[in-house]
Amino acid sequence: MPHILVFDSGVGGTSVLEHIKLLVPTAEYSYVMDNALLPYGLQSEQTIQARLACLVKRANQLSVPVDLIVIACNTASTHALATTRELTDIPIVGVVPAIKPAVLSSQKKHIALLATPATSSNAYTQSLIREYAKDCQVDLHQSTKLVSLAEQLYWQGSFDVGQLHDELALIDISEKVDRIVLGCTHFPILKAQLSQYYGHSVELIDSGAAIAKRVKFLLSNKLEVLEGTNKKPLQFYATAPDNLVFNSQIELQAMSLNC
Ligand code: DGL
Repeated sequence: MPHILVFDSGVGGTSVLEHIKLLVPTAEYSYVMDNALLPYGLQSEQTIQARLACLVKRANQLSVPVDLIVIACNTASTHALATTRELTDIPIVGVVPAIKPAVLSSQKKHIALLATPATSSNAYTQSLIREYAKDCQVDLHQSTKLVSLAEQLYWQGSFDVGQLHDELALIDISEKVDRIVLGCTHFPILKAQLSQYYGHSVELIDSGAAIAKRVKFLLSNKLEVLEGTNKKPLQFYATAPDNLVFNSQIELQAMSLNC
C-alpha cells in the first residue's frame, strides 16, 4: 500500500488531501504542517527552501517508507519545488496556481489570481502567466488574512464572516473577471463563503482535482491492495503542535523542520 506525505504550512493542504483521498482511497497518508512558520506567504524563498530540504530528510526518517510527497502549498511549490526535487529520489508533486485551466475556460479572457503575497510576486507564477495567459488579462491579488480565516474555520468550526467580507472588499477583484484562481490551498476551505460573495457569474478554480489525478497516475502500479493489509489511519504532524489546541479530535505529533 503506497504511503503519501502531504505537506503545507498549515491546514490548506487538507483541501488537496480530500481530492487525493477520493481518487486514491487505498493509500496511507501522513499530513505535515509547518505551522511554526505560518504564513509561508510572508517567508523568504531561502527559508522555504530550507524547510523543505528538512522535510525531505524527515520523510526518510518516518517509520514507513514514503512513496510520494505532495507539496500541497502554492507558496512552497512556486519557491522550492525544483530545489527540493534535487534532494531526493522520492517523486514530488507540487501545487501551483491553476492559471492554465482558468484561462482556457474564461469567456471574457479576464481572470484574477488570488494567492499569498509570496506566490503572486513569484517568478515562477509570472512565468505561468506568460506561458498560458497570452490572450487573457490576469489581475494579481494577494491576502494573508484569508489564510488565517481558513485556519480559524478549520480548527474552530466557525469564523467571523464580517472579517472575510471586509478583506474581500479590500482585495477588490474587478467585476469584469469571470474566473478567480484560488492560488493558495487554504482558500478552497472558504469556497462556500467565497462563492456566495462573488456570485454565479464567477467560477472559482483550484488545483485539487488535477493534483489528485496526477498522484493516482504516478502511483498506478502500486495501488493494488493485498488482502488482509490493514490501512493505518491518517497521521498529522505539526512543527508547533502546541499552537493548535482547538480541535481535540485530531491527534498531532511534533515534527521539527529545523535541520
Ligand atoms: N497554503 C499555502 C499556499 O497554498 C500557504 C499559505 C501560507 O502559509 O501563507 O500558498
